Amino acid sequence: MRVAALTSTELPPELEVQDRSTPEPNAGEAVVRVEAAALNHRDLWKLEDDGRLDDSDLPFVPGGDLAGIVDATGADVSSVTAGDRVVLCPLETCGVCRACRDGPENRCENYSSFDGAFAEQVVVDATRLVSLPDSVGFLKAAALPIAYTTAYRMLRRGDAGAGDRVFVPGATGGVGVAAIQLATILGAETIGTSTDEDKLAAVDALGLDHAIHTGDPDEMRERVASIGDVDITIDHLGGPYTSVGVDLLGTNGAHVLCGRTAGQFPSFDARELYFGHKRILGSTLGTQADLAQLVEFVADGRLDPVVADEFSLSETAAMLSAMRDREMVGKLVLRPQQ
Ligand SMILES: NC(=O)c1ccc[n+]([C@@H]2O[C@H](COP(=O)([O-])OP(=O)(O)OC[C@H]3O[C@@H](n4cnc5c(N)ncnc54)[C@H](OP(=O)(O)O)[C@@H]3O)[C@@H](O)[C@H]2O)c1
Ligand SMILES: [Zn+2]
Repeated sequence: MRVAALTSTELPPELEVQDRSTPEPNAGEAVVRVEAAALNHRDLWKLEDDGRLDDSDLPFVPGGDLAGIVDATGADVSSVTAGDRVVLCPLETCGVCRACRDGPENRCENYSSFDGAFAEQVVVDATRLVSLPDSVGFLKAAALPIAYTTAYRMLRRGDAGAGDRVFVPGATGGVGVAAIQLATILGAETIGTSTDEDKLAAVDALGLDHAIHTGDPDEMRERVASIGDVDITIDHLGGPYTSVGVDLLGTNGAHVLCGRTAGQFPSFDARELYFGHKRILGSTLGTQADLAQLVEFVADGRLDPVVADEFSLSETAAMLSAMRDREMVGKLVLRPQQ
């Protein structure tokens, strides 16, 4: 079976297609034939960010999102059997900390997340597989685990509901599009931005209520303010956009932060926070139950995850550049069997 592996820490990263032996499952594990594996910005961070990987991590097979068919199961596996259609919850938890005992499990003090999806086959913890109804295709399912589950948890962490106004700076990528679609499902009014008019038009067509074509923080602040107070900001960008998001919140509004694509050390006006009784909340990933809920949303037709493009294992260079160059609306998905 083939994988796409990083074999050198030279930049820019290049993934090499390598042959590996067919994996065997140990007790508690399942081997999954990967039909679709989505790319997330976290994969780019791992491949490109200084200090993330060193030579001892090589060869490194990236990818946290995968959907496919169970090929084989090890001893003591009863939740899935060969032939099942599944999507992986990439969350890995310790099972013993307070969050693992009381929930939500994504707050596990010792959490990590799966890597290795850019492969024809993977070995995974069988209990982390969520079944897919026949009506949910592999491409759509592979889009869900990281981007959609994270966005869903962020919205719930900010108590988003019917009638709320949700602001998403950078609404065209994985988390951004997911946040717009899921906020709409929750009955919220949505405001999204992009630096690219065509990408913004594509998100507008998904039901975005207010499309704002700018990447300039001051212009963004002014144009969103003219719509009204924001109840929840979904911030995956950080940098200068965090203070914009905090400033625009109404009293008791929630600024929920999961990323730092535009800068790791945002700053904001403390007075805005305390005079406005505002909340800044960190959030990472989501629970397996969140993922199962999203699969149900897709199955019942409420959610149609947005896939921008698909690539074969030998086309990973094009897939990585498309994300780096911000070319896509929604998710980029690898098809390892092609
Ligand atoms: N903590 C977690 O559990 C978690 C989970 C998922 C993601 N994240 C983080 O969330 C972020 C988004 O992830 P993703 O996979 O959704 O990424 P993505 O698909 O690459 O996001 C693309 C979006 O980001 C905007 N963007 C990219 N670079 C930008 C820049 N320098 N300045 C302003 N906007 C920029 C793009 O804006 P345009 O439309 O203008 O091109 C587009 O809307 C990443 O930092 C990721 O690590 C965290
Ligand atoms: Zn734990």
